Amino acid sequence: MQLSERISRISVSTIATILQKAEKLKHRDTKLADFGAGEPDFPTPDHIKKAAIKAIEEDFTKYTATGGIRELKHALVEHHAQSYGSNYTAEECLVTVGGKQAIFEAMSSALNEGDEVILPTPHWVTFLEIIKYEGAKPVLLETREDEDFAVHAKAIEKLITPKTKIVIVNSPNNPTGAVVPPGEMEKILELAIRHNLLLISDECYCHFLYDGRKPFSLGSSREREHLLIVDSFSKTYAMTGWRVGFALGPARLLANMLKLQSHSTSNPTSIAQKAALAAIEGPQVHVDKMRTEYRHRRDRLIEGLQAIPGIRCVPPHGAFYAYPNVGYYLKKDGLGDTSVLAERLLDEAHVAVVPGTAFGTQEHIRISYATSLEHINEGLRRMAAFFSKL
Ligand SMILES: Cc1ncc(COP(=O)(O)O)c(C=O)c1O
Repeated sequence: MQLSERISRISVSTIATILQKAEKLKHRDTKLADFGAGEPDFPTPDHIKKAAIKAIEEDFTKYTATGGIRELKHALVEHHAQSYGSNYTAEECLVTVGGKQAIFEAMSSALNEGDEVILPTPHWVTFLEIIKYEGAKPVLLETREDEDFAVHAKAIEKLITPKTKIVIVNSPNNPTGAVVPPGEMEKILELAIRHNLLLISDECYCHFLYDGRKPFSLGSSREREHLLIVDSFSKTYAMTGWRVGFALGPARLLANMLKLQSHSTSNPTSIAQKAALAAIEGPQVHVDKMRTEYRHRRDRLIEGLQAIPGIRCVPPHGAFYAYPNVGYYLKKDGLGDTSVLAERLLDEAHVAVVPGTAFGTQEHIRISYATSLEHINEGLRRMAAFFSKL
């Protein structure tokens, strides 16, 4: 059977490949220092779990409105308004099966073959794959490590052509933890308006900001016609497996995204929506606790990485990833690229990291610090020993 040309344009996430291998090692009882997964190690808070159990007990187990139950949409726009001073209506909100579905639907609704999408690099792997799947052309904006991977509106503007349709910005960034300052985000939005583009602002990590930076959403801007906010319950509430995300944006775009949703997944799981409602309406103290804990872990991780000779790391100001440069070691021992390095780290030191090639750079590895301090210390010890032998 001949498969479609479209599906051959994309590949399974490199992240998934390394995670699968790490998972196999874990099953063999190997004590793994696992820095691979991009998900909180914290359990989903109890009140959220209880809301899901209650939903099951009350038989809230049938199809719901495709784009999410009304209470959840209202709670989402209300919560966003309180947090950021935005004024979205429920018609400008779509509940999706994770943030991923919102991104996929948005690109499918907006892109034609040959359209260009500007994507700052390093970038989360899925953005690039979806662009390719849609038959659009990724136009990568290389950010500079010596500028802390800053994304400048001016640099984006230089890449705009008559074919540009979408600009994607992900702040705080996966994999670097870099944060685009609110003023620069506003400038990027002005560009989108001026050039009639769609700006997708992926804000899935917006609650995890450090060093005095306050949670920020571009959704607080009054000019929203060219803006799609994508957010998720996955990271904020430690709910990766529940698969609930959402988009805030122009009603016409959301209506088209909804068409796709209606013929693919239909509604996000009914029970998970009730859990999401409890997450957003309940106490937010769990989010604050996670943020504080991530900051401690980040500080320890960066300190430990900087102590390994030859490794440099831009300080991440958000999310829960560090993106150290290991270029110094790639020249040694015939390593060549970070995929080989990641494989060897896993096989020889039982440390799981993701090679930076997945995110569009050649000399980095991604380390997720959504894991305990104990694991971080053990992982640092093993990495230091591994690198010292190269
Ligand atoms: C930058 C970014 N956006 C979106 C997502 C999607 O998360 P989910 O589909 O679990 O909501 C992720 C997950 O890793 C991510 O890192």
